[in-house]
Amino acid sequence: MGCAGSVTAPITPTQTLPHQGGGLKRLALALVLLVAGCGDDPPVPDFGDPERGRAVIARYECGACHRIPGITGARGKVGPPLAGFARRAMIAGTLPNRPEALLAWLRDPPAQVKGTAMPALGLSEQEAGDAAAYLYTLR
Ligand code: HEC
Repeated sequence: MGCAGSVTAPITPTQTLPHQGGGLKRLALALVLLVAGCGDDPPVPDFGDPERGRAVIARYECGACHRIPGITGARGKVGPPLAGFARRAMIAGTLPNRPEALLAWLRDPPAQVKGTAMPALGLSEQEAGDAAAYLYTLR
């Protein structure tokens, strides 16, 4: 990952402790920011299994509303076609297309986007993860 290597300038107490009390907090904040900076890698889809996701998508009949490549009979026109979904920037034109947002969306769309026409279908966390993994194979 190389995170440790990215820490170049050592933090000395004299820089961070000009006033008593506030300095330690600032040092802690600086360390938190350094650690958080290591999380910038692109998301790795380790949250589900695409093959199980294909079965989830078939079982919940997502294809009644969506065209979905690789899913038999998925020719619905209520929702947007899902071909190329992995390359889309937004979910429902509102949420950033990132794994956490997609999982939340799949589990309960109206909770994420008020007034959306996609209903909550009752996917479990595991099912949403698997379905998301499948959707991210659609490039
Ligand atoms: C009753 C119809 C219906 C069903 C069933 C349905 N959806 Fe949707 N879906 C929609 C609609 C409508 C939208 C557009 C929502 C919006 O833009 O507010 C949508 C949006 C989406 C999006 C965002 C697409 C984009 O490009 O913005 C994804 C991903 C998605 N659905 C996946 C699924 C999955 C997976 C299932 C099955 C678990 C499913 N949908 C079942 C109607 C449906």
